[in-house]
Amino acid sequence: KHISIIGVPMDLGQSRRGVDMGPSAIRYAGVVERLEQLDYEIHDKGDIEIGRPGKDEEATLGNNLKYLKAVTKASEKLAESVDEVVAKGSFPLVFGGDHSIAIGTLAGIAKHYDNLGVIWYDAHGDLNTGDTSPSGNIHGMPLAVSLGIGHPDLTNIAGYSPKIKAENIVIIGARSLDEGEKILIREKGIRVYTMHEIDRLGMTKVMEEAIDYLKARNIDGVHLSLDLDGLDPDEAPGVGTPVLGGISYRESHLAMEILEESKLITSAEFVEVNPILDEKNKTATVAVALMGSLFGEKLL
Ligand code: ARG
Ligand code: MN
Ligand code: MN
Ligand code: MN
Repeated sequence: KHISIIGVPMDLGQSRRGVDMGPSAIRYAGVVERLEQLDYEIHDKGDIEIGRPGKDEEATLGNNLKYLKAVTKASEKLAESVDEVVAKGSFPLVFGGDHSIAIGTLAGIAKHYDNLGVIWYDAHGDLNTGDTSPSGNIHGMPLAVSLGIGHPDLTNIAGYSPKIKAENIVIIGARSLDEGEKILIREKGIRVYTMHEIDRLGMTKVMEEAIDYLKARNIDGVHLSLDLDGLDPDEAPGVGTPVLGGISYRESHLAMEILEESKLITSAEFVEVNPILDEKNKTATVAVALMGSLFGEKLL
């Protein structure tokens, strides 16, 4: 059992600085030690180099795809790194950075699968395009991009598109969707468990349904993309776009444990940890605890 960690200190996909320190905060919270206790061999590949945007990019900040060039460049690098990890049979575990990094992660992973499933654990749909985004922030677009919808520089990362199919996606925890995202969800028939379903059915039922749904699609791998803002901001305050009324810490542990039992997860990323907005590294600590459950930690 081998896990390869890749840090992505990316903060250009949104407008609140500090999320570039997410990978450090997660390492500081003891992720390597935690997973080693579970008998995994851990290889930390370090961080992808992001670089700072040029003056030309600052000048175009009024547009609807902020820092497009810098995000594209970083996504290509990340895709290559993830690709190598999957190719050698190790489990890719990616730390953000803002959620725009999912573009690169999925680009590196999806080519290794015929029918990749995706669990998108998030308050948001991240299904915007330059045309529908209210903010111009690319972290609100990675799921659309991976479906092949959006700016060609982004959809063509790693030289192929689309990366995933709409019917292989399950969104869990949604409670803030923009109009364009709702249209896309209906049009593509994307499976979404909003907070309503989580409250009503309970997390156990939601996860069991999600797993059955993906299995029925004959997926040959499942990527977990976990945005810490999927959790309630009381329990995960260190995020740039908090939304009240989120998934609890306990429900999230339960979700990770059910995923672990399913043995379906073949790659994962934990994103949007912003230590500057956090309380004593609480959010990174939550992320590491959830990884513990995802990789099989048990009390007894
Ligand atoms: N829907 C909003 C937007 O497009 C917020 C996106 C938040 N995304 C995230 N990964 N936290 O700007
Ligand atoms: Mn190794
Ligand atoms: Mn989010
Ligand atoms: Mn997100």
